[in-house]
Amino acid sequence: MSAEDMEMKHRGSDQQNGSLTAKEPPGVETVQLKKRVGLFSGVALIVGTMIGSGIFVSPKGVLREVGGVGPSLLVWTGCGVISMMGALTYAELGTMIKESGGEYAYLFKAFGPIPAFLFQWTNVILLKPSSLSAIALSFAIYVGQPFYPACVVPDAVVKFLAAVCIVLVTSLNCISVKVAARIQVFFTAIKVLALGVIIGVGIYSLAIGNTLWLTPEKAFQTGHTITISDVGLAFYQGLWAYDGWNNLNFVTEEIQNPVRNLPLAIMISIPLVTLLYVLANVAYFSVMTPSELLASGAVAVTLGNRFLGVMSWVIPFAVVCSTFGACNGSCFAASRLCYTAARKGHMVEILSMIHVKLLTPSPALMFNSFIALIMIIPNDFDAIINYFSFAAWMFYGSTCLSHIVMRFTQPDAERPIRTPVIFPALVVIASLYLIVAPIISEPNLWYLYAAIFILAGLLFYFPFVYFGYHPPFMKYITMFLQLLMNVSPPTEAPK
Ligand code: ARG
Repeated sequence: MSAEDMEMKHRGSDQQNGSLTAKEPPGVETVQLKKRVGLFSGVALIVGTMIGSGIFVSPKGVLREVGGVGPSLLVWTGCGVISMMGALTYAELGTMIKESGGEYAYLFKAFGPIPAFLFQWTNVILLKPSSLSAIALSFAIYVGQPFYPACVVPDAVVKFLAAVCIVLVTSLNCISVKVAARIQVFFTAIKVLALGVIIGVGIYSLAIGNTLWLTPEKAFQTGHTITISDVGLAFYQGLWAYDGWNNLNFVTEEIQNPVRNLPLAIMISIPLVTLLYVLANVAYFSVMTPSELLASGAVAVTLGNRFLGVMSWVIPFAVVCSTFGACNGSCFAASRLCYTAARKGHMVEILSMIHVKLLTPSPALMFNSFIALIMIIPNDFDAIINYFSFAAWMFYGSTCLSHIVMRFTQPDAERPIRTPVIFPALVVIASLYLIVAPIISEPNLWYLYAAIFILAGLLFYFPFVYFGYHPPFMKYITMFLQLLMNVSPPTEAPK
């Protein structure tokens, strides 16, 4: 589209900030994100982001920390319970505040713009892109492995494949919300099926008598005494596999009938994933002894190699599909956070714009992926997960606190779903523990850097948001990018 066409289409530019605004003639579709997420795709957005690479590799991390089969299973169940309590809290928040952006919208409403700004700053710049790149790296390892049967996949190849995955997922999301939602459903079905295969192998293995490590005497035999910080670290590993339980809350405005579908999708998804995860772990422990599990690089693949014979390729293939789908779900939700924050003036204006024909938030999608591509470069994957969890739980805790606070500050707000206060209260306690335990057990300067990073957001908040300073050249950059990407600010929803 030429600049002239653009002018025609967007008659009248918004004089205040200099951006071109879409003013559609009557009868023409408004430039807006459409409500394309139904119950099915809602479940897929949760389940399909939760199930990524974690359940195929993290059982080793949990077992390493707590040392026994029984405690491991308890940790996996506990992680499911915490996620469920968090998600039920978010069900009340999401039906009370029907805005996209998840925690951002809730923190804004409860505590005002500064905590919301710090949340979006940390998530948009750091957490969302780093989780996308972490999942893309797992995808890359599993795609590359068949080509290097005798050795580990070279680093450069892994990084290249991860970049391809991010670019592909972003392009699909930029092209169509409908396509992205369908892809999500398709890959979710594959990964649930794959876990079904793993659980099936477990049932078979139990049936032929491999129950030794699941008997009470053996299950609670641990290699070492479990300290309170071991439990914390084990929870970190498990909770990474459950992360994504809040994903649907980022897209509330795009859910059809959100008051029904958001809580329903939550209540279907989290128990389903918990059940699948716990049973998958039972399967692993029936097929392998704890020491074999600790020696295995990827537990699910070891299980497949032992029991699936010529079909053992199914497992790595499933991990590839699973991680690809999780990247898609991550990208989908992260872009909505960035888009919502930009709409409120907390991010540069271009990120609040929508492609005028495809009706996708393409600038936000591209921005998220651009940072994720940069984050592929450093090597330390475990570190990414650890610092990710530390900061993520700070915000999950504050959001659950906002639920409790708003019961007092906004007692009359309409709440179609009321979650008992005990749930957010327990999540607040759990998150305090998760934040403090690793700092005490392994004090590390990185936690300080993370805290400094979060607070550094204020250096941007005060000049650009609070005092509203807009460098004059910004409006030209915005206009140039608008013409380049064919995007415009969303028009008002038809009443
Ligand atoms: N649970 C996923 C996995 O096991 C990771 C999810 C990352 N979080 C997110 N919001 N994308 O791989």
